[in-house]
Amino acid sequence: MSSPASLPQIHRHSFDVAICGAGGAGLMAALSASDKGLRVACITKVPPTRSHTVAAQGGINAALGNVVPDDWRWHMYDTVRGGDWLGDQDAIAFMCESAPKAIARLEHWGLPFSRDALGNIYQRAYGGQATDFGRGGQAYRACASADRTGHALLHTLHQQCLKRGVRFFTEFLCLDLIMRPDGSCGGVLALEVETGELHAFAAHATVLATGGYGQIYHFTTASSICTGDGGGMALRAGLPLQDMEFIQFHPTGIYGSGILITEGARGEGGILLNSEGERFMQRYAPKTAELASRDVICRAILTEIREKRGCGPQKDHVLLQLSHLGEKTLHERLPAITGLAKTFADVDAAKAPIPVVPTVHYTMGGIPTNRHTEVLRPTKREPHATVPGLFAAGEAACASVHGANRLGCNSLLDLVVFGDEAGRRIAELLGKRPALPDLPAKLLEPALTHFSLLWSADGTEHAHSLRADLQACLQNHAGVYREGADLETGVRKLESIAERLAYAGLADRSRLWNSGFVELVETENLLQQALTVMHAALARTESRGAHFRHDHPDRDDRRWLAHSLTTMDEYGRVTFTTRPVTLAAGELAFPPEERVY
Ligand code: FUM
Repeated sequence: MSSPASLPQIHRHSFDVAICGAGGAGLMAALSASDKGLRVACITKVPPTRSHTVAAQGGINAALGNVVPDDWRWHMYDTVRGGDWLGDQDAIAFMCESAPKAIARLEHWGLPFSRDALGNIYQRAYGGQATDFGRGGQAYRACASADRTGHALLHTLHQQCLKRGVRFFTEFLCLDLIMRPDGSCGGVLALEVETGELHAFAAHATVLATGGYGQIYHFTTASSICTGDGGGMALRAGLPLQDMEFIQFHPTGIYGSGILITEGARGEGGILLNSEGERFMQRYAPKTAELASRDVICRAILTEIREKRGCGPQKDHVLLQLSHLGEKTLHERLPAITGLAKTFADVDAAKAPIPVVPTVHYTMGGIPTNRHTEVLRPTKREPHATVPGLFAAGEAACASVHGANRLGCNSLLDLVVFGDEAGRRIAELLGKRPALPDLPAKLLEPALTHFSLLWSADGTEHAHSLRADLQACLQNHAGVYREGADLETGVRKLESIAERLAYAGLADRSRLWNSGFVELVETENLLQQALTVMHAALARTESRGAHFRHDHPDRDDRRWLAHSLTTMDEYGRVTFTTRPVTLAAGELAFPPEERVY
């Protein structure tokens, strides 16, 4: 990239709280902070109701016990077990205990939950969830709005934010955090995409709620906006990312397109078949079959394919059969996926099975936080040290409630509980209405230098081909099954893509709606996180949850019952270290045990 470009106009703003992202976590944080009387800016690269939360289908977990008796402690145990004991149990306890109250609030705000015959909130079965600390039968915990729960949630929260006067800065791309010399965060620099002008937001508290980075893979249920912009900003501010090697594949992405077919389809009774018409999950998980944990099912599907029992001419997928559920159930409980199956697989799910294959769905790793959403900058001496003024929630964050593998329907819960907690904690820390913050111009310099470096890109490499190459690299070298030599090759390939990024060029020089520039920023964010994923996957020489290594097939608690932390220096070099997992929540503790379904 050549010499820095001249800067566009810079607008200055001052708020108590600047929230980056307007998905479930961002909106919930905005709502919660404004309820405490704080002045809130919500900065979002897409209109709020187009945030990726809209794509969540199946539900949001809470131990309401509307179908069978339930208890939040059982929910907690399932979450700890689902995450293969890598989750922090204080955060998990907080999330599961908060869940029933969170659902009641959503209902009062108008979220149109589906109902059972008695008028109670409808709850469906999801994988890896049982009653009585895993000893009882299937739990029914997922509160659903048909199979459009994320859509319903997002609209409900957005309306509540509008009611409270949250200021939205829509189609603004957050570029970089503005850090103070004392290591605290003073706000964020963003690009107004429509005008090409810059906006510096001074804030007492900045919340990263920018979602996951599923777009580092080629086949993913994550929409194209899921480029981990918050993680990129954190890395460039010198902060670590945690547990990046843990990437969740969803067992039922539509073959060919990767579009999500909700696990709720299996929760309603859908079954998986191989080319011999066998319901193969009964062999892999005799107790739970299609409702085992997602990582277990993905490995089973790929084993079927590897052993030549896959379907279709290439024998490279399996089938999800729903026809036996009947048209009424499909229409009432699964209307959206019925439409998706028709559009993307040309299948009438009431008559024929849907071709499916494991597809990247969720990124368990992210910006490390404590259970109050305060971002961590751990050191050996101070493993719980926080970054004053910086918070993170939702898929961008790693609290860590999902550990090595997330349970279905704990994601929407995470957004709501920790978004709310961010607002509450910020208000608690700020005390009574503080004076609005200011940012000395000098503090903007690193972010502005980075902006003008990208803006002046005049090389020959195109962001879209760099993005495609990195997606192919992750797809081929860091899949469901991994292996040391493969991961090493993956690291080398990513490093060469990073070298090419220095020769990127912008074909369009217009300030107005420069989508090429947006793509370049997103590609840098993706690449930086892809490097941390590959390095962390190589370093973790064990198998745990969604991270399975052929060359290290067993879980190794002695060495690896630890969170990974990856940081990146200004030359893109990744360093790797670990920090301890929190294995208790006060009196309540679930020590590691064998994970069977
Ligand atoms: O399959 C699904 O409905 C996805 C839910 C989730 O990932 O939480």
